[in-house]
Amino acid sequence: MIAPSARPMTGSTHKTLCIGLTGGIGCGKSTVARLFEELGAVIIDADLISHQLTRAGGQAIPPVRAAFGAAYLTPAGALDRARMRQLIVADADARRKLENILHPLILDLCETRLLADSSAPYIILMAPLLLECPEFLKLVQRVLLVDCTGQNQIARVMQRSGLTEPEIRAIIALQLPQSERLARADDVIQNDGACDDLKNQVAALHRYYLGISNNHLTAG
Ligand SMILES: Nc1ncnc2c1ncn2[C@@H]1O[C@H](COP(=O)(O)OP(=O)(O)OP(=O)(O)O)[C@@H](O)[C@H]1O
Ligand SMILES: [Mg+2]
Repeated sequence: MIAPSARPMTGSTHKTLCIGLTGGIGCGKSTVARLFEELGAVIIDADLISHQLTRAGGQAIPPVRAAFGAAYLTPAGALDRARMRQLIVADADARRKLENILHPLILDLCETRLLADSSAPYIILMAPLLLECPEFLKLVQRVLLVDCTGQNQIARVMQRSGLTEPEIRAIIALQLPQSERLARADDVIQNDGACDDLKNQVAALHRYYLGISNNHLTAG
């Protein structure tokens, strides 16, 4: 589904068309991003940036240690993701504290990448919390939602991660309800079908984004 609207650029210095790719846990964001990449799109992955910031020696490790203590780091000095997940699912203050450390660092790196890739026809910014975070939303002109049924979402995350169904439901409960995500998206990829169906939806959107790109000289 492609809606005609596009949001104006606000507060960001980059000029390239930027598409925010988002969706609930396990809905297929990374799979969709890989398909766009195969078509030649530039991808900025906020999740990957977050992992890089929180690995041993990462820029976020000193403030995380200061805020939460060494108990939330692994022996090697990386963020202990499983332990932190347990804490932030149960404790909203801790979640905000972690976000206040990570989000400004992630945003900064996303903006740097957006400026560095300024000749691309368009850029996909993949950010799970795009709709929850106004600062991330300011970087994008369109929101592309990857959506699937709750049943598929749970089954896929269980298969991939080994998390239990209650653990997955607790994470889903922290995210925006599906109806709200759908209401706020400009474009929607429905990911309940087979791989070919997904590829066709991505290809159609790729053509559309090339068509509305600001950088026409390099598009196509
Ligand atoms: N259409 C599909 N049919 C079957 N399996 C799928 C489909 N789309 C994605 N998957 C599988 O579901 C799992 C979740 O997909 P993916 O990692 O792309 O989601 P995600 O939104 O990036 O998840 P996360 O929020 O955890 O980053 C993966 O194992 C992926 O291979
Ligand atoms: Mg992913």
